Amino acid sequence: MTVPDAGLLQFSAPDWSSTLDALLPEMHVVDRDATRIWHAFYPLALADAYAAATDAAALTRRLRIDGNPSLAAGQIDASHGFLYGHRYWPQVKAAVLARLGPAEAGHYTHHAIELGASASALLIDRVRRVAADVAAEARVEIGLVTGIAFIGLMTRRQVGADAFHASTAASVMTPAPAGRSPEAVVARRARDDRQGLLGFLRTTRHYRVMFDERRADAAFPLLAGQHLTTASANDTRDYTHGPRRFQEGPIPAQCRSATCSTCWVGVLGGRDKVSAIDAYETRRLHEFGYIQVTDERPFIRLACQTRAAGNVTIVIPPWHGLVSRLLPDPIRQILR
Ligand code: FES
Repeated sequence: MTVPDAGLLQFSAPDWSSTLDALLPEMHVVDRDATRIWHAFYPLALADAYAAATDAAALTRRLRIDGNPSLAAGQIDASHGFLYGHRYWPQVKAAVLARLGPAEAGHYTHHAIELGASASALLIDRVRRVAADVAAEARVEIGLVTGIAFIGLMTRRQVGADAFHASTAASVMTPAPAGRSPEAVVARRARDDRQGLLGFLRTTRHYRVMFDERRADAAFPLLAGQHLTTASANDTRDYTHGPRRFQEGPIPAQCRSATCSTCWVGVLGGRDKVSAIDAYETRRLHEFGYIQVTDERPFIRLACQTRAAGNVTIVIPPWHGLVSRLLPDPIRQILR
């Protein structure tokens, strides 16, 4: 059983969410949506449910979880590989470990009581301090590491001090291409494929969906207006040797009608080039428990309901399931 970090237990899931919202304007745009996507992929309520479960397999069945939602299960150093700030993960770990000893956790709690500061104000302060440490150590602007600093603290909160300390940053993958600047990454995400010399004669435009920016081959073609899952299914490379979620193409999909919860993805680049969300997809995202939609083009989508008309960069979560079943019954009724 994972033991959550006692020094961070004073902060509730809404505290973490409001902290992230407050810090977004301070983050470099390259990792703004990436941090929000990560936060959606690893919900605190789910981690706490597993930490408290006496029968993890029963919980998995009740929530119909398929895949690996646990940071503690081998994902501490890798879950955030799609962030630009991932390259500073060793410094983030060192800063979190240095700042979150038991003595400092006590100091923060005492400080909160004395000043009557809100929990999220304290958490914001913690993230900023870790980010400042990392920025100084890595000699980069603080906005580049604010998102990954948030993730460092949340990871420690979910997996506990021992697991966080014991995991090795040696497994950290270098984001590719290593030398690309954050501005170049943002520009690359926004760019569309050229349509060729006679592209203006084409009735149907051809684009690409990238599903792992670190790998040159992690992309599949898409015809303008196509659903992401349709284009994904046309990628005939063999994905079935991986986890059983992958039946056809790189995006796990079963029903293609927004009923199974399988195909949720994060939209890392090209949000302005995907279709606006409709009421049905909005309701289904709520009912699955993935996000509460507040945007016309949210950063989490059901790929089977999302069409694109341009290059798009997505992130595929390592699991799917019905996390809304963790909510108390009255709230679930409201979502129906
Ligand atoms: S494939 Fe079932 S919800 Fe999209």
